[in-house]
Amino acid sequence: MSAGAEKEVPFHQQGNFLPVEEEVTAFNLDVEGALPPELTGLYVRQSANPITGYSEHWFLGDGMLHGVRLENGRAAWYRNRYVKTPYLDDPDIQRISELGQIDRTVSKANTSIVKHAGKLLALEEGSFPYVVDDELCTQGIEDYAGKLTSAFSAHPKICPVTGEMISFGYGQLPPYLTYLRVSPDGQLLQSDEITVGGPTMMHDFAITEHYAIFMDLPVVFSLEEALKGAMPFHWSDDYPARIGVMPRDGRDADVRWFDVNPCFIFHTLNAYEHGDSVVLDACRSSEMWRKAGEMTLGGGELTLHRFTFDLARGSVKEETVDERALEFPRVAAGRVGLPNRYGFMLDVGEGPDGGPAFHGVVKIDLETGASQAHKYGEASASAEVVFVPAEGADPNSDEGWLMSYVHDENSNKTDLVILDASDLSKPAVAKVKLPQRVPYGFHGNWVPDES
Ligand SMILES: [Fe+2]
Repeated sequence: MSAGAEKEVPFHQQGNFLPVEEEVTAFNLDVEGALPPELTGLYVRQSANPITGYSEHWFLGDGMLHGVRLENGRAAWYRNRYVKTPYLDDPDIQRISELGQIDRTVSKANTSIVKHAGKLLALEEGSFPYVVDDELCTQGIEDYAGKLTSAFSAHPKICPVTGEMISFGYGQLPPYLTYLRVSPDGQLLQSDEITVGGPTMMHDFAITEHYAIFMDLPVVFSLEEALKGAMPFHWSDDYPARIGVMPRDGRDADVRWFDVNPCFIFHTLNAYEHGDSVVLDACRSSEMWRKAGEMTLGGGELTLHRFTFDLARGSVKEETVDERALEFPRVAAGRVGLPNRYGFMLDVGEGPDGGPAFHGVVKIDLETGASQAHKYGEASASAEVVFVPAEGADPNSDEGWLMSYVHDENSNKTDLVILDASDLSKPAVAKVKLPQRVPYGFHGNWVPDES
């Protein structure tokens, strides 16, 4: 293929974005370095792996989970498994009937994976969760005994104080936003419509100990683009940007909306309460997808941004925390909704044809402003890292590990790489050698055995 012809291939159809063909099971994996014995559990991450070999957009491939089980200092197994959704049997199946009814069991289930109330949930924001077992075999949908009637976000938050899972669903048809609250034992306690300005894209949200935070931002749904089968969301200069703060047990009338400068946010880092204020840190783009059907992920200027909502005065303050382009932000699971000293993010570089390339991880100390970076290597790239605290460590410290799949484009091999989070200048603590490459994907988690 000539260089000119190669240019026409979108980034997600090239290199390590391409799907893998086999579901592989391998035991007793080779390890370079030494695995910390206390890391006993499952590391699992999502990727988009179109079963037909092709998808219109990176976000539209079928969900495939890649998992590595660690046990007392050894890497017991690797498995990659499709989430068994109706798309695998019929890639052309339609989610929306001719009568406009949405079948929420028809999911790509490709975005994230979380464990709550004893169930591993594979999530995609337009559909119901899919339950998979500890060996990544699909068990079926989770509709909370029929009580779930809306979409379910790929970014629910599990409150480390109460064990509740707080979530939401957004839709292209009314209700455009639904607030969801699940008890620690997996009962859907609340499903309430929240009024927003229209069919806005809402990929993530945030919680604090007492509040849920919704981002009603100007990337909106276009029916015209959807009917063409294109990416149906685009930027709107006419849609006001607002962020809403609602008591976690509140309803639509309790939301306090704050006007903010136009922006789009894929991911929040965290939120917490400080006196009469609620603080939200997020990876903010100054705009996104100005052109309908745009295939890139970029748009505008990406910075780490802080919103401080003064609930007593009804005012909001905005400031840049870090000017670097950083994404896939994570805090320790035990700090979700609570003040966090550290945030972990990926350094966003540019890959071929508008695609992203995540060559390193950045740790930011939000108390001192200091930061530290770890480069995986110019030919090596990652996806989201997960922070795993060390046993007995101060819960607001950086003592622990960062885990992620790292792909070496020279060797075309992937390792599960474990870094010492307290000192990113050190080489990896351990690299688990995987039997096949893991395509660049989305969100992952560490699931310790006791969870
Ligand atoms: Fe996400």
